[in-house]
Amino acid sequence: MNNVSTQPRSSRKVVIWLAIGVFMVFMQVVIGGITRLTDSGLSITEWDPIMGAIPPLNAADWQEAFDKYKTHAKTQFEAIHADMTMSEFKVIFFWEWFHREWARIMGLVFLIPFIYFIGLIPPLSIAAWREAFKKYRTHTKMELDVLRMDRLMNKSALKGGVWQWAKTKKLIALIPVAFFTGKKQLHSKLVKRLGIVIAIAMLAALFGWIMVASGLNTPDYAWVNAYKLSIHLGIGFALFSYLFWTFLNEWKPAVSVFHNTMLKRLITAIIVVTAMQIIFGGWMSGMKAGLAYPSFPDMNGKIIAPVLGDGAQWTTKNLIAYNTNTFAPALIQVLHRFTAYALTVLILYFIFFSQKFDLSTEIRKGIWGLGLMLIVQFLLGVFTLINCKGSIPITLVVLHQAGALVLLAFAIYTTYLMKIQKD
Ligand code: HEM
Repeated sequence: MNNVSTQPRSSRKVVIWLAIGVFMVFMQVVIGGITRLTDSGLSITEWDPIMGAIPPLNAADWQEAFDKYKTHAKTQFEAIHADMTMSEFKVIFFWEWFHREWARIMGLVFLIPFIYFIGLIPPLSIAAWREAFKKYRTHTKMELDVLRMDRLMNKSALKGGVWQWAKTKKLIALIPVAFFTGKKQLHSKLVKRLGIVIAIAMLAALFGWIMVASGLNTPDYAWVNAYKLSIHLGIGFALFSYLFWTFLNEWKPAVSVFHNTMLKRLITAIIVVTAMQIIFGGWMSGMKAGLAYPSFPDMNGKIIAPVLGDGAQWTTKNLIAYNTNTFAPALIQVLHRFTAYALTVLILYFIFFSQKFDLSTEIRKGIWGLGLMLIVQFLLGVFTLINCKGSIPITLVVLHQAGALVLLAFAIYTTYLMKIQKD
């Protein structure tokens, strides 16, 4: 059964702004992947959200940054970068800086239009000012300002421009006019959702630093801690998903509502399993687990790595000190492989089951996109794995990571089209 429900409609400008946001978060995750894969993540040893935007500008500052890296990321420096030159350091510094810089640019791309859309930007023409002032006068009882502005509105000063007046008199008096009269383009539900987006983004930044800090000043890891890495990665994916969902709500505010519970349960299960698979993927990357068993479908000639058959290996200590044993990488590989099989079965069943229903073309496109992306992602995973011989194949991993985002986006898109609108 299909029916249609409605919710407040956003302007085209708002929808485009949200789409840009989704693209920027997508790129942020991809750049984060490149940062990790080029072993660049520990090159900036401080967290300075504002001043950190400016990279070292002279030879002395570069030397200081390099020295800090050598001291604070000593374990990594000695393990893999001991013969690093200054120009090589600048390359790894660039990736970490760019990853952080992109986040800052994202903040601005979010904040400036946000201020405009909630109506905090002053009117931009004299006519708009006059209109704004009229509204302001009706809505407030700020007599003093009213008197001042009355005089102003009647004067030829308007021809010379309010700006001139504002410069010489009190600019501050114009702020409440702008505040009360700016065009508000975000409905309250969207403002709430954007508040959640900001909260998740801040959490991602915080865990980004917690993750980097886990690799600094420690003899235990030459890289960052795999579990902290996957939390940071997971929050990045959560941010992408939630912003994408918010975008869909504004892009297609009236959706056809499909009432088959079984299909909805299946697509929800697909999202949950994909989310688990992404977390396992983060562990795979953090532990560089691909290097241990770079063969498929077997694990170095065995169906399952023999180390997993040894009960004595199943200890928490082995999971914590994953870089000192083969058990943890073997376990996470098995989890990542078998979750991929489970996801494949689930998605195939979902596609098969959905054929029984008279679905809209849009939903069908979402379902086929999901199926196609599963095949691409699975193959990318296999190619990544079999190329993990001695070193990690950077391009394949970046594509595999981006593929995970696209797969998740298709699952979310299909869910959205099937959702019950409660608004
Ligand atoms: C089908 C669903 C799959 C999804 C959603 C998925 C997702 C992911 C994600 C998100 C990562 C982390 C990437 C990063 O942080 O850069 C990852 C890593 C990895 N995945 Fe998958 N994966 C899937 C299937 C597979 C399959 C079938 C294989 C191979 C049998 C595979 C092999 C790998 C390997 C080797 C890594 C580690 C790459 C590295 O060292 O950085 N994946 N996966």
